Amino acid sequence: AAPIDQLVKQVDGLSLDAIKAKFPENYPELNLMDLYRAHLSNVLSEVTGVDTSLIYPNLGWTSGLEKGDMALPVPALRVKGKKPNELAEEWAAKFPDTDPLFSKPTVSQVHLSFFIKASPLVNAVIPLVHAKGADKGQKRIIVEFSSPNIAKPFHAGHLRSTIIGGFLSNLYAGAGWDVIRINYLGDWEDPINHLFQLYVRINTEMTAEKEEFTKRKEAGEDVSALEANSLDEQARRYFKKMTDRDADALAMWKRFRDLSIVRYKDTYARLNIHFDEYSGESQVTEDAMNEVGKLMEDKKICKEDKGAQLIDFSELIPGKEGKRLEKPLVRKRDGTALYLTRDISELLGRHEKYHFDKMIYVVASAQDLHLRQLFKIIELLGYKDIADKCQHINFGLVLGMSTRKGTVKFLDDILRDVADKMHEVMKKNENKYSQIEDPLATADVLGISSVMVQDMSGKRINNYTFNMETMTSFEGDTGPYLQYAHARLNSIRRKAGVSDEELATADLSLLTETSAINLCRHMAGWPDVVKNTLKTLEPTTVLTYLFKLTHALSSSYDQLQVVGSEPELMKARLALYTAVQTVLANGMRLIGLSPVERY
Ligand code: ARG
Repeated sequence: AAPIDQLVKQVDGLSLDAIKAKFPENYPELNLMDLYRAHLSNVLSEVTGVDTSLIYPNLGWTSGLEKGDMALPVPALRVKGKKPNELAEEWAAKFPDTDPLFSKPTVSQVHLSFFIKASPLVNAVIPLVHAKGADKGQKRIIVEFSSPNIAKPFHAGHLRSTIIGGFLSNLYAGAGWDVIRINYLGDWEDPINHLFQLYVRINTEMTAEKEEFTKRKEAGEDVSALEANSLDEQARRYFKKMTDRDADALAMWKRFRDLSIVRYKDTYARLNIHFDEYSGESQVTEDAMNEVGKLMEDKKICKEDKGAQLIDFSELIPGKEGKRLEKPLVRKRDGTALYLTRDISELLGRHEKYHFDKMIYVVASAQDLHLRQLFKIIELLGYKDIADKCQHINFGLVLGMSTRKGTVKFLDDILRDVADKMHEVMKKNENKYSQIEDPLATADVLGISSVMVQDMSGKRINNYTFNMETMTSFEGDTGPYLQYAHARLNSIRRKAGVSDEELATADLSLLTETSAINLCRHMAGWPDVVKNTLKTLEPTTVLTYLFKLTHALSSSYDQLQVVGSEPELMKARLALYTAVQTVLANGMRLIGLSPVERY
């Protein structure tokens, strides 16, 4: 606020801090007029002998610039002995000629009217408006994540995208951003694949059919008539009907899509995740893609190649970079669009709809090239400003993920298996188990915590091996360990039975032990961890902190007994542990875990 500082310097005896301390709800950096009001109150106090606390709230607006910038009704100051109009004349005369901000006031009956001096105002207000720029309000971010393909398995890649995307959404929301969560469904594929059982069956049958045709051809038979009506060809024709907006085909497809979304929503709810928009490949219109197609032609970005349209990056960008971006197709020979084509239109459409300040794509690193191509095309189309707002958050593979039932990896199956495992573990401690209100629900939460913590333990880019044994263990840095730490704090509070009001009066100077001090040091570091996480965008930044905190917690219990110690000491330690519980729960929620009360 350099312009404000300039102005303050011109006014003897004023400093921003002094102003803010003296006048209620005065924010000169946000509102220049607060500075003027404060200064005028000070001057008028000298002139009238009345305290500023009576003047300041009575400085009013005028009905128009011709009546001045501020006005004071003299009777409001309740000065006895003289008539208000006489006082008005007297004060106007006494008002200093040399005031830097205001001219001498004018009198109309019992009112004093004040006019602001031009030069200092002009020199302050214009740079201020420039500096602030257009009112942006809150910054807006789109996080696109999860994005499964309907009626195909929700595989490990989608799970990782879901976990990481949920975390990033929480992170930005916590930092004050307006977050829009988009699920970009793969919902525009061959509709015969749209039910999973059919998906498996049809694939088997198609392979069999193809083999059959090959055999017959080798035997010299003409199978072209059969091939023209092959399953593959039928599927292609059906999809063509959809893109041609055939009503029946679209109605069928829409039913599958709607049913899939209903199922997804249940699973997402278990993971504490919701979406603001279920978008998807199907939502990109042919019109929008044709428009982009024209733009690409105008800008000579794409070229024809045997009836298809492709982008040869090596011709557009010199050197290695162009080569690395390869030669993606944007229109097939039969005129149909591709995954990349849809992404181009979708990105521009989102910018038009949401005017985002940033957009994150949470997609497996297997699609690094695809996203690099996408962002580069947007830039070549003349939208570098938009491309610069986009970021690909990638991640590695999950290895060795399979379920008891077989090789197909549906997320629900995995979550059920892990929950079963946690339920078995819980049952081993009969005493505790009997006190849990809804053991199955708790087992579900613990199972989900196991999966999520394992996923977030390393850097995103690393591959990891899905390991049911290690992730469900209480030993080591696992989900159950974090949950246990939280539940234990909860139980300490429960047993002590001290109310929040009592805790507020605790004498914290009693906390002198190293472990108490270290816990406080960890807690004080939490805001910086969040700040750093906004730079790394790595869930492990938060997780590493939470494990440091919980390790410090575990080793503190011997030194900091609660139950059985002196009442005042007990209160102080309980106040400490309650604070730790708050920070722990905040951190857990940030990464998407639901802290359990007991287990
Ligand atoms: N549905 C895609 C898949 O499963 C992921 C979509 C990623 N997002 C995007 N805008 N391309 O591979």
